[in-house]
Amino acid sequence: MTQSGRGFERNDQGSATFGGVELQRLLAKSRCSTPVYFYDLSGIESQVRSLSEAFGSASHLIAYAVKANSSASVIRTITEAGAGVDAVSGGELMLARHLGVPSRKIVLSGVAKRDDEIDLALAEDLLALQCESVGELSRVAERAKLQGTRARVSIRINPSVEIDSHSHIATGHDAAKFGTALRDLPVAFSLIAERSTHLSLVGMSTHVGSMLKKPNAYLDSARAVCVCARDALTQGHHLEYVDFGGGFGIDYGDGPAAPPAQFATQALALLNEEGLGNLKLVVEPGRSLVGAFGILVSKVIQEKSSGQRRWLMIDAGMNDLLRPALYQASHRIEDIDVPPGTTEYQVVGPVCESTDDFGPHSFSRIPSYVVLRDAGVYAFTMASEYNARPLPAEVFVKGGVIVHENPSPGVNAWVESRLRA
Ligand code: LLP
Repeated sequence: MTQSGRGFERNDQGSATFGGVELQRLLAKSRCSTPVYFYDLSGIESQVRSLSEAFGSASHLIAYAVKANSSASVIRTITEAGAGVDAVSGGELMLARHLGVPSRKIVLSGVAKRDDEIDLALAEDLLALQCESVGELSRVAERAKLQGTRARVSIRINPSVEIDSHSHIATGHDAAKFGTALRDLPVAFSLIAERSTHLSLVGMSTHVGSMLKKPNAYLDSARAVCVCARDALTQGHHLEYVDFGGGFGIDYGDGPAAPPAQFATQALALLNEEGLGNLKLVVEPGRSLVGAFGILVSKVIQEKSSGQRRWLMIDAGMNDLLRPALYQASHRIEDIDVPPGTTEYQVVGPVCESTDDFGPHSFSRIPSYVVLRDAGVYAFTMASEYNARPLPAEVFVKGGVIVHENPSPGVNAWVESRLRA
């Protein structure tokens, strides 16, 4: 059972359901073959709405981190519920604009924006370009001068806060490449003042990292943003917003996480305590809005035993879902038809790499199909075609009905693309 909405559940007979419908029925109706991602758009929508409600009448923007899941159906679902977008590349920005997301509901983040990406952001007149260093502020001023415009910028600070998460997804500590160091802020402020014809400081922002299960570290980094925002106001900059970033965690089977609404309520309270309640509060969630509402369905190819070892080989690999290989992340893997049992198998994919291994999972029999749970984010967006494996298919479900399908491009398209190289 997911915290709100539906996603993956089991019915009274023990078979898997998705978005309230038997998964086997959805599979039979779909024209996509495995490996295939399913997304529950209704679940995603209710998740966004419950986060929005937590802000009440306070001025706010939920800037959905598109890198988490960039399918049009998902972005539309989220933005039609009132959210905007946090983009980290020109491509993500273009996609959001194609989907009709208003410019002033988009921020462009990213640690090393290219000149063409800066130019695009300036032409689109976004809520802000979130700058991550003094050097970048100066480059943005130059580009704005060339375009004869004034850039709306925020300074993304590195709050110097450690979080309890995998080291690869912690971004707000001293050794991270992200953000402007606090000691560089005076120089950043004077640069903006000097180049005020081409730079206007409208926000202060941060993103401390991902998979935060409790709000503590989030609030610590938010407090650092507030201190910097007050400095900026004292120096006469006309700030419009503070952005505390994303990073709200989800339960991958290892224990519950505080719901996004709890982060929002506490962030708002902090903003008021800090005397900044007149500013807009921006948050940048990705994972928490979509993660639990996506699954990857895979067919079992065969089992293999050797001595005490038992492997279950499935047709999804690390190219389809990279998180276990990259972060030692664990996704629950279950038989579609029956609940987990007690016989442990090492579940592995077909890719010729030892890290193509989804870890040990327990079954009551050899399944025909398995579901890899909580695969809504950083899953399809991180997929590759390694080993000549075409990108996986995607199926979008709303109100228990398939509303859209994006089949895999297939192996012939892959061969053709390589023949052109
Ligand atoms: N804002 C910025 C500037 C970010 O860099 C990120 C994520 C987010 C917002 C959204 O964070 P979220 O709410 O989704 O935690 N591939 C990793 C996660 C990398 C996160 C990168 N930045 C994973 O699979 O766990």
